[in-house]
Amino acid sequence: MKINELKTPCYVIDEGKLTENLKILHHVMQRTGAKILLAQKAFSAFCEYPLIGKYLSGTTASGLYEARLAQEEMGKENHVFCPAYLPEEMDELVKICDHIVFNSVSQFLVHKEKIKKAAAGISTGLRINPECSTQEGHEIYDPCGTGSRLGVTRAELDKAIQNGFDLSQIDGFHFHTLCEQNSDALETTLDAVEKKFGDLLYGRKWLNMGGGHHITKAGYDMEKLEDCIRRMQETYDLEIYLEPGEAVALNAGYLETTVLDIVENNGIKILVLDTSAACHMPDVLEMPYQPPLYGAGKAGEKAETWRLGSATCLSGDVVGDYSFDGPLQVGDLLLFGDMAIYTTCKNNTFNGMPLPDINVLRENGSVENLKHFGYADFKMRL
Ligand SMILES: Cc1ncc(COP(=O)(O)O)c(C=O)c1O
Repeated sequence: MKINELKTPCYVIDEGKLTENLKILHHVMQRTGAKILLAQKAFSAFCEYPLIGKYLSGTTASGLYEARLAQEEMGKENHVFCPAYLPEEMDELVKICDHIVFNSVSQFLVHKEKIKKAAAGISTGLRINPECSTQEGHEIYDPCGTGSRLGVTRAELDKAIQNGFDLSQIDGFHFHTLCEQNSDALETTLDAVEKKFGDLLYGRKWLNMGGGHHITKAGYDMEKLEDCIRRMQETYDLEIYLEPGEAVALNAGYLETTVLDIVENNGIKILVLDTSAACHMPDVLEMPYQPPLYGAGKAGEKAETWRLGSATCLSGDVVGDYSFDGPLQVGDLLLFGDMAIYTTCKNNTFNGMPLPDINVLRENGSVENLKHFGYADFKMRL
């Protein structure tokens, strides 16, 4: 099958691009000795886990289901972090995870007996909050904002220690503060981590520096990343983990859509597509951001500017304005780029929108259908 013969709307995972990203990440691992995990929340198309497992050390999960998926489909290091675990989840997690990270001392204390009793040795971690915001413009992604529930602040950790908490029960620290950022933001964050928690890093075995590192994006400062990793390895004798999601599958997928109708409002020409930002690419509205569209330019750049909207009832369900060399027609196929991350694992069937099929573009150029969704997938969740 060819990419322009697929039933739309559909996602296409680009295995060649995925492999390119994995090679870049593997290179960082080889050069520094750090371990890199796939953050499954960004990309959990498990058909690619055997490929990803060839290059990365394992996975990190946001809870039991992702941890199970990793154990079933990759079977390498299996880390989990969740702001709070249910007792029955912990019963399962201790059987399948090797690293369990807690968001608070109180959560650790609730579950510590299960960890101690687990047959396999489990490495315990505590998420720390260095209270260092390096991002602007999307507070929803900033775990260091005032009032954040994510990670223990130094003040709270000190209170717990004063009340008798024995930190030697915690093997590693974890922080996640970045979002699509370069290594200068990591460097700034490490300054804050050292300032706030440096004395406590000495007793730990590992440090997980979270995700949000845009390592596979052109222009990423790799040298600075490697310096950051070495700095923490050498100063504190720590094993270093990174757990990017985006960087693993950045630009490694497409969303193909068909133009269903063309309408006009006050001189604005609008394409109605068989896809939806709200349903199939939720980060377009949540981040917000405008994905690349093949053959199109930014609004006003090319001869004709069109607004790309969806077939749902939500007025704001618009992908954005793009410009084209010439007019478009009903039936035209359009291809959005960077549609592997935070799409297949985040989509929904609002308005009864069909879920896009999932296809894979192999390195030899052939396209295979992996998943087909229909009415039953919509109905079973309701
Ligand atoms: C704890 C944690 N780790 C890793 C990630 C992955 O981040 P990214 O996909 O931006 O690399 C996230 C994203 O929200 C996260 O919350």
